[in-house]
Amino acid sequence: MCGIIGYIGDRPACEVIVKGLKRLEYRGYDSAGIVTEEGGRLYIKKGAGRIDELAEKLGFLEMPGKRGIGHTRWATHGVPNDSNAHPQTDCSGEIALVHNGIIENFAELRGELLGKGHTFKSDTDTETIAHLIEEELKSSSNFEEALRKALKRLKGSFALGIIYTGEPDRLYFVRNESPLVLGIGDGETFAASDIPAFLEYTNRVVFLDDGEYAVITMDSYVVKKLDTGEVVEKSVQEITWTLEMAEKAGYPHFMLKEIHEQPRAIKDAIHGNREIIRGIAEEIANYDRIIFVAMGTSYHAALVGKYLFQRLAKKVPIVEEASEFRYEFEDLIDDRTLVIAITQSGETADTLAAMKLAKKKGAKVLAVVNVVGSMATRIADLTLYTHAGPEIGVAATKTYTTQLTVLTMLAIELARIIGTASEEHLRRLEEELIRTPELVELALKHDGALRELAEALMDSRDFFYIGRGVGFPTALEGALKLKEISYIHAEGLSAGELKHGPLALIEDGVPVVAIAPSGKTFEKMVSNIEEAKARRAFVIALGDSKKLEKVADVFIQMPEVDELLTPIPYVVPLQLLAYHLAVLRGNDPDKPRNLAKSVTVE
Ligand code: F6R
Repeated sequence: MCGIIGYIGDRPACEVIVKGLKRLEYRGYDSAGIVTEEGGRLYIKKGAGRIDELAEKLGFLEMPGKRGIGHTRWATHGVPNDSNAHPQTDCSGEIALVHNGIIENFAELRGELLGKGHTFKSDTDTETIAHLIEEELKSSSNFEEALRKALKRLKGSFALGIIYTGEPDRLYFVRNESPLVLGIGDGETFAASDIPAFLEYTNRVVFLDDGEYAVITMDSYVVKKLDTGEVVEKSVQEITWTLEMAEKAGYPHFMLKEIHEQPRAIKDAIHGNREIIRGIAEEIANYDRIIFVAMGTSYHAALVGKYLFQRLAKKVPIVEEASEFRYEFEDLIDDRTLVIAITQSGETADTLAAMKLAKKKGAKVLAVVNVVGSMATRIADLTLYTHAGPEIGVAATKTYTTQLTVLTMLAIELARIIGTASEEHLRRLEEELIRTPELVELALKHDGALRELAEALMDSRDFFYIGRGVGFPTALEGALKLKEISYIHAEGLSAGELKHGPLALIEDGVPVVAIAPSGKTFEKMVSNIEEAKARRAFVIALGDSKKLEKVADVFIQMPEVDELLTPIPYVVPLQLLAYHLAVLRGNDPDKPRNLAKSVTVE
């Protein structure tokens, strides 16, 4: 996830772009860059670092010209450094472009272009696009034709901003599965990943749809279809948001925005790993001693990973909190051990220490990480990125469901290599995984009902979350979400454990949230719900079977999906319930007391 802003008009382009980039910084902030044009020459300044630092160090505000494009980066291919920052250019230096998204077939295209004599200056997938347009220009009658031909060859998601010296009065913007919106001013036109980037200048916007591109000049815009070049009529909409609201894209909190971003994030996690998952799975398929290490929500993802590895790849991993692993496993690891570290930030002190210990002892270390170029990726032998984009709310939401997505892909591929599950079963799981963004959309539809439920339960003192199998980590995660932002005491339990002690705490009206998808343990879950009901608990059941409607006080109908994939959609109502309880109790869910986004001390 990166941020794009483009401007063409009568103001110094650099000023508009720097302001826009600051407003887009929430989308990525590991590097930034700007291209402007004056007198048929492109001026480019870019580097790794935060926008404010770079603006001062590189002199962004001294760049000439009245048209230009800026970019703030959240690295997906290539570590954050100066050469990988956008804009990226072709060999001639006449085409410069910025990109948000992932080009899945970039390796193949890059190979082809290298063969045709193009020279590359970065490790990015983005640079490939600039060279591809340059190549197509050789056999096209104009730039627009070359652009269309080049873009047809790209697979993946992209929003692009493109400037070409040969056409001094215009800029091009393209949208395919990554957001892009035009801002229509008076004698000036803008384009950006998100409205706040230009809301200071105009509230008149035109939303591009997937498969469309726009040609903008200072006083006109035209939107066309990428595949045919046919003009698409677009209506201008007037936005009534305040700048403050718009930065959260209209959501009152980043957490709610990030909960709603999950369908998009899961798609990116799938696209971003599709081509590399096989290679990673091959590298780890021979290890039998597998230890997952992580903390907090990432630890819950690791627990789901354990169930996936067990059921599909018939491997029995150990899952340890990284803080425990460090002190307990020193003598138990060697070069036959595989350690899988899961960390959103890639900076959690205990997880990094566990990884370093594992490396020192000769173990192979695979990291599942969200932040590109973070410390964890530098320690690990192998890295899988979750591609969730920046998560600003302290409570992990989209980074959790994307961790689950990546672990599911890995377990499927391992099972395929080892031959522990039938190809038919694995294919079906893959197809269902591709559908999970839709399932999450369905889960999001319970928002209104969950808010009402939160109103009814906002004075509860304790909550219990119960689940079995893959539903157990979901119960733990639901309880953690509630604790950290609503400050209500909550416990996540394996449902079987209930009668071994915790049942003594169940009394009249105590909320018990039961994770009860159809599958191996459904009937057992129903019995546990009945046990809780017999002690007059207030039971909220999540599942796909109507039978739950009869036994529970509140039934949250979930879509049918293979039990192994339920952790992805089932956590969504739990995130929403925690969110609404936090807000109703007057807490800021984005900044819970005593907590920080990355725990960089032990
Ligand atoms: C909970 C939460 C934390 C993190 C934990 C590990 O919502 O965000 O429990 O999951 O601090 O952080 P990472 O994944 O960055 O290592």
